[in-house]
Amino acid sequence: MTLEITPAEATLGATVRGGRLDALDDESFAAIEVAWHAHAVLVFPGQNLSDEEQVAFSRRFGPLERSLSANHIHDDPTIIHLTNIGENGRLLSADHGVSMLLKGNNYWHTDSSYKRIPAKASLLSARVVPETGGETAFADMRAAYDALEPATQDWLADKIAVHSYGYSQGKVGGMKTITREEWDALPPVEQPVIRIHPATGRRNLYIGRHASHIVGEDEGESRRLLERLCIEACQVPRVHVHRWQVGDLVMWDNRCVLHRGLGHPPDQPRHMVRTTVAGDSTGANEWVA
Ligand code: OGA
Ligand code: MN
Repeated sequence: MTLEITPAEATLGATVRGGRLDALDDESFAAIEVAWHAHAVLVFPGQNLSDEEQVAFSRRFGPLERSLSANHIHDDPTIIHLTNIGENGRLLSADHGVSMLLKGNNYWHTDSSYKRIPAKASLLSARVVPETGGETAFADMRAAYDALEPATQDWLADKIAVHSYGYSQGKVGGMKTITREEWDALPPVEQPVIRIHPATGRRNLYIGRHASHIVGEDEGESRRLLERLCIEACQVPRVHVHRWQVGDLVMWDNRCVLHRGLGHPPDQPRHMVRTTVAGDSTGANEWVA
């Protein structure tokens, strides 16, 4: 199998052609892993994987996270269907709980940073795409860290941010799809603002919409600082936008990439399927399925 890997213009992202993700030998898988560490976001056009094939490919990167119950309309808790198409085939209204959940995805974030052990990778594939909009944008937090003033890098070096699903989802009003037990299992957690990538050793900014404020700093001021850092970080040339075709699969490294949906007209259907590789931990991870 010969893989053709074409880097994007941005500081992150590459397109991989020439391989079938449901039939990868170990050598090709290793090449994909190397490319993923280099480019942080890989686009695989036209794979058309089934749910089971996507799960099997995802599991090659590690154990999968189970998602919040509102997300898995099917039995397998490791598969998230992100869709505005309701059970009756009609499109959901804007005030539907799931619509609010989806709306949250349109703000820069890294998946599961509000969990004690945040996600390693996310894999997203397109089943139904809208005619207009619906792209997903990715921003390179390695290059964003590199672009900071040395004094800012130094100041941030030992800072810890509080990440909270109650904070981020509260802002978009999407509280009603979460069960009481899930709320209780999602207390605010602390994450370093600068992380060192375990595979590449590169430093990166670890921020996004779930980051509420910095421990030991004024809450309002540090919140505004985090917001400013995020705006500055998510600028060209650090941003790659993927315009979806049905069958595409994109995988990104949540440890060093922020992403967001760009939104689409609510009267157009969109259906995406996501799997999430759990973060590495030395102890138990209560979110592993
Ligand atoms: C996600 C996500 C954005 C999109 O799947 O984690 O944030 O464009 N998706 O659907
Ligand atoms: Mn996401």
